[in-house]
Amino acid sequence: MTVSTGALTPHLARGSRVRIECERLVHRGLGLGRYAGQVIFAFGALPGEEVTVEITSVHRRHAFADTVVVHRASSDRVVPLCPYFGVCGGCQLQHASYRLQLELKEEVLAESLQRHGLRMPEGADALGAAEPWGYRWRGEFHLLAGRSGLGFTERGSYSVVEVESCPIHHPSINQVLGTVGPSVKGQRGHPETLQLTVGAGGAEVLVKSRPKASLSDRVVSESASGNPVGVRLTGEATEIDYRGRSFRVYSDSFIQVNQGSLDRLYETVVDWLRPELPGSKVVDAYGGSGWLSLRLADEGARVTVLEQSPVSARLSELHAEMYRPGTLEVLCGSVEELLPGLEGLTVAVLDPPRSGLAPQVSGWLAMAGPPTVVYLSCEVSALARDLEALCRLGPYELDQIRLVDMFPQTYHFETVALLRRK
Ligand SMILES: C[S@@+](CC[C@H](N)C(=O)[O-])C[C@H]1O[C@@H](n2cnc3c(N)ncnc32)[C@H](O)[C@@H]1O
Repeated sequence: MTVSTGALTPHLARGSRVRIECERLVHRGLGLGRYAGQVIFAFGALPGEEVTVEITSVHRRHAFADTVVVHRASSDRVVPLCPYFGVCGGCQLQHASYRLQLELKEEVLAESLQRHGLRMPEGADALGAAEPWGYRWRGEFHLLAGRSGLGFTERGSYSVVEVESCPIHHPSINQVLGTVGPSVKGQRGHPETLQLTVGAGGAEVLVKSRPKASLSDRVVSESASGNPVGVRLTGEATEIDYRGRSFRVYSDSFIQVNQGSLDRLYETVVDWLRPELPGSKVVDAYGGSGWLSLRLADEGARVTVLEQSPVSARLSELHAEMYRPGTLEVLCGSVEELLPGLEGLTVAVLDPPRSGLAPQVSGWLAMAGPPTVVYLSCEVSALARDLEALCRLGPYELDQIRLVDMFPQTYHFETVALLRRK
């Protein structure tokens, strides 16, 4: 039914409003509905809901839209906690109960595999986050031209929306948001973004500006002294504790942003591999600062860490020296170059960035990879593509898969997959 387009026409145009039923949620948290045979992807619609949407862009086979009226609401619809939800580009699912968010993510994972000719193995499950709010230990904020506040990119635009606080970020980040923005305003070098990382159990926030070095140490220490909230600011490094170990963190070194749910992710890997780890030769490819590598070494594995970033590779060495001297071998360079040089591997743990595996890495694994592979992924489309190459077209079978939700309120999630050579 056309609501306010003027003419009754099956042709959708930007700004026109139509009433649709949302069939299901798809990747990126959008509700899929249809109007006059055309697929509409609607922000803010939940499965089973009848909504009026306003078309925001029209393409050859589909259109995008925003939900403007909910006529029949899902029983899982909840009031978003954040006043910026829908404007800010950070979250997509605050209007759904956490139970539904998890269910929808499971469906997205199953569908992504199916599209690549793969089925979810028996016993596949999903672990929810330890905390659905306040879980991000690191965030990147934009500084607004002419204003002292910090903000995020708006949904569907390059503009920035100023935020006073963000409920998915750690309370310590929220505590310094109000003071750090005004302190850096007017700096020479004009920082454009600030990266904030929580450390020292929440007592410290590591501040890093981009472009690099535009924020002097003096400014950070001045903000720290003028900071009334009791969270220390630092421009150097910080420390995060995990399982009784203190890991050094720099702004340039990768961290898993959801520290509260980290154990669910890493211990899935450790539990699945435990029986075969003692004495085995394991590669932790894309190993970061060696947090997971050390857990694998704890279980008796001899681990080689492959890591491209010199800062993270050096941290892996440092953490190995501190906690398990002599157990990790750290090679700094790309997995593409280094992996084919490793011999006698029994297990490969892969945790690539969002883009997934380079073709030469999946090609090498298919040809010469070890009997067991564990693949951790933060981007389901890249995971499904790589699993197709390794399992449907390659020599592995998908033995287990688990969704670990490290990013509540957003459409993102982590997946861990266990592959066995056939
Ligand atoms: C998703 S993070 C995983 C880090 C680590 N497994 C963890 O849990 O902390 C990906 C890591 O791979 C590194 N990286 C990205 N591309 C790489 C490549 N082609 N070769 C080696 N390392 C790479 C990044 O620097 C980053 O530390």
